[in-house]
Amino acid sequence: FHVDIDAAQADKGTYPFYMLKEIDEQPNVMRKLSQVYLNDAGEPVINDDLMTALKAADRLYIVAAGTSYHAGLVGAKLFESLAGVPTEVHVSSEFAYNQPLLSAHPFFIFLTQSGETADSREVLLNVNEQHFPSLTITNVPNSTLSREATYTLLLHAGPEIAVASTKAYTAQIALEAILAKALGVATNQPAADDFDVKQQLALVANGMQALVDEKDTFEKISKDALLNTPNAFYIGRGLDYAVSLETALKLKEISYVQAEGFASGELKHGTIALIEKDTPVIGIITQKNTAGLTRSNLQEVAARGAKTITIVTDNLAKDGDTVILPAVDERLTALLSVVPGQLLAYYTSLNKGLDVDKPRNLAKSVTVE
Ligand code: G6P
Repeated sequence: FHVDIDAAQADKGTYPFYMLKEIDEQPNVMRKLSQVYLNDAGEPVINDDLMTALKAADRLYIVAAGTSYHAGLVGAKLFESLAGVPTEVHVSSEFAYNQPLLSAHPFFIFLTQSGETADSREVLLNVNEQHFPSLTITNVPNSTLSREATYTLLLHAGPEIAVASTKAYTAQIALEAILAKALGVATNQPAADDFDVKQQLALVANGMQALVDEKDTFEKISKDALLNTPNAFYIGRGLDYAVSLETALKLKEISYVQAEGFASGELKHGTIALIEKDTPVIGIITQKNTAGLTRSNLQEVAARGAKTITIVTDNLAKDGDTVILPAVDERLTALLSVVPGQLLAYYTSLNKGLDVDKPRNLAKSVTVE
C-alpha cells in the first residue's frame, strides 16, 4: 500500500477550486513550519553555514516578484525589527537591469514560490557573477533558483495549484519571521530574545482557523461591496500597507475588479479624486501607532461617499468595525489580516462565475522576462 503524498495533496477533494483549499490549508502550513524549523524549546534550527553567512552581512536584499514581493515587504520589517539589520526589498524585474548601489557585504534573499521566475533568476545570475552569497526561499525543491543559490530553505506548504498565491505568501512570511528570530538571537538582539516565534505561530494558526471558519461573513461582504463595483481600494500604513498591496492584487487577479493598495496617508494626495458614491475602501488596522490615523483617512473617504469596511485587530477594535482579527504580536498581523482579503477575492471571483484558479492572461510561474 503506497500513498503518494504530493498527488494526494494536489487533489481538490470536495473543494470547488484549489484556491479555497489552499486558503484553508494555511493553519496547517504555520504548524508545519514550526515543526520543521523550531525545536521543542522554540529555538530556530537553521543550517550553520547559512547563519554564518547571514551574520557576516551588513545589509539584506530581498528580491522577488508579484505576491512574493509583497511577502518580502513584510519580511523586511521583521529582519529590521528582530535582527537589527537594514533590509531592502526589490522587484526582480527592476533590480535586474537597474542594480542599486550595494553595501559592502550584501546578502541576497530570493523569495519565489515556484523557484522558476525568470525575472528573479536574472538577478540571481548577476549576484552569482559578483560572488555574493544568496538564499532562495521556495516551495519547490530542486527548482532552478534553489539549485543556483548558495542556500535554500523550503516553504513546506504543499503544492500550490491556484494561480493566485495564498498559502505560499503566508508561509514566506512565517519563515522570514523564523529566520529573523534566528539571526536576531545569533547577534544578541534583545527584541529577538523576547519574541516567542513558536508561541506566536501557534496563535496565528488558531487565528487563521477562526477566520477561515467564517466564510459566510466574507461571502456576504463580497456580495454587498465588491461584486458589482468596477474598482476598490485597500488602505493601511506600515505593515497594513504591505498587506493592502497584496489583498488588492488578489482582487485584481481573480475578480478583475480594478483594485489599488494604498498607503492610507497618501490617498489624499491625489487618488482621493477617484472616490465616488459607494466606492469600496477597505481599511486594514493592526498597528497601534497608526490605527487612529487610518481611521481618520477612512472618515475622509466616507465623507466623500465611499463604502468603508474595516479589518481590525481585536485590541484596536471599535463598535461598528466589519471584521475583527484575533490579536497576535504586531509584527505578525499580516498573517491574519491577509486572510479576509484572500476570501473576499475568492468569493467575488466565484460569484462572478469566473475561473478562480485560472484567471485570464496569468500563469502560475512566469519563465520569460
Ligand atoms: C506569477 C504568478 C504570481 C506570483 C509571481 C511570482 O506572476 O502569477 O502569483 O506571485 O509569478 O512567482 P514566484 O513563483 O516567483 O513566487
